Amino acid sequence: MATTLLSTAETSGNDGKPNTPEVQPLDAALRFKPSLRRLLSLNDFDAAARRHLPHPLYAYVSGGVEDNLSREENLNAFQTLEFAPRVLRDVSRRTMATNLLGTCYQAPFGIGPMGISALVAYDGDNVMARAATAAGVPMVLSGASLTPLEEVAASSEGQAWFQAYLPGDEAQIRSMSARVHNAGLGTLVLTVDTAARANRENNIRAGFSTPLRPSLRLAWEGLTHPSWLTGTLGKTLLQRGMPHFENAGSGRGVPIISNEAVRQFNRDSLDWNHVAVMRECWRGRLVLKGVLHPEDAATAAKLGVDAIVVSNHGGRQLDGAVAPLKVLSSIRAATGSLPLIYDGGIRRGSDVLKALALGADFVLVARPFLYAAAVAGHAGVTHAISLLKEEVKRNMASLGLTSPGDAGPHILHNADFRPPSPLHRSC
Ligand code: FNR
Repeated sequence: MATTLLSTAETSGNDGKPNTPEVQPLDAALRFKPSLRRLLSLNDFDAAARRHLPHPLYAYVSGGVEDNLSREENLNAFQTLEFAPRVLRDVSRRTMATNLLGTCYQAPFGIGPMGISALVAYDGDNVMARAATAAGVPMVLSGASLTPLEEVAASSEGQAWFQAYLPGDEAQIRSMSARVHNAGLGTLVLTVDTAARANRENNIRAGFSTPLRPSLRLAWEGLTHPSWLTGTLGKTLLQRGMPHFENAGSGRGVPIISNEAVRQFNRDSLDWNHVAVMRECWRGRLVLKGVLHPEDAATAAKLGVDAIVVSNHGGRQLDGAVAPLKVLSSIRAATGSLPLIYDGGIRRGSDVLKALALGADFVLVARPFLYAAAVAGHAGVTHAISLLKEEVKRNMASLGLTSPGDAGPHILHNADFRPPSPLHRSC
């Protein structure tokens, strides 16, 4: 019989039956890896990954840029908001189903794009894609990933989104769009907050670099983290060969140890005209990631993009860039009913609901799912998704909500923001 981490009272309606089908029982993941029972929240995966990964790699994933101001503020911003719970509202028929860009997802969150995931977790991109599809949520494959997007399109059953890093070059925009279309993927995310290469001092201090430079320190870190060395690096080299940047353009990119690795991600000449070109040649759903200013958001809306990801890149680009939660409501005010996806610092179900309350339609969560893939593969990501779903659903009950679509400023204490028009997030 299926066991879940929740009591019957929390998961059942008045008739004693489960009140929605969306929250999958956790038995599959936990039966497969009983040790996952000790991981009770997304933050627990961070601690587990810190132990499992060589320090340079953990530092690469966890780090921000320069003094980590934006990375920290992404987390702090949530703590300044408090809920105004409502009681006695019959929340027995809660659903987390959320409509985004014409698809009904089983929760209001997805997995954000992360480069080099397949070096952090064995087959990391496919692992996250399969787990996300099984759980009914989207996974965004990074343009700096090491797995061909065609493979991830297959492992996600066509459900993954692809995030492109594009140079300001029309021919390359067209050929990349054609490649994504031919792979059968329907959502293209263009990341626009990387005009310059980030100043990742923490990577240098920790001994991590792109291109990856073999060193005595890296070798020592590998030897002292044998489960990563054999289970991820060794297995990758044996079974998949030397990792390459597979999706930096319309063809295969360079190996991760190549000096060309930096040059292929140069994109300081990208401008709004290129977004217009993309809109013209990409017939699928087009999403801009990395917008923080209401005027930029309004421009994107005018150019016909289908959604915006309000994000400071997890504090990994411009240190001191405002926490996206602080600008969400003004971007909502500037964009009317354009779908907004919040990104940055989400670690709890309560964070998801706070972002929805301030005008987001959906959220992306990045680092915790890569940690989950690193420490426990498919079972880990499945467990992490289940934990976050359970938290959202539990908190919806305490707030008197039956659907994420009902979250608005009224669930917050002292919120002075009013959305310009009702949002339509329900399936
Ligand atoms: C990222 N991020 C990122 N974003 C993007 O658009 N393309 C990319 O290739 C990457 N690569 C990447 C690698 C790693 C290791 C991390 C941690 C992050 C940024 C990511 O999509 C997201 O915006 C932030 O990480 C969100 O913050 P949280 O959820 O990690 O706090």
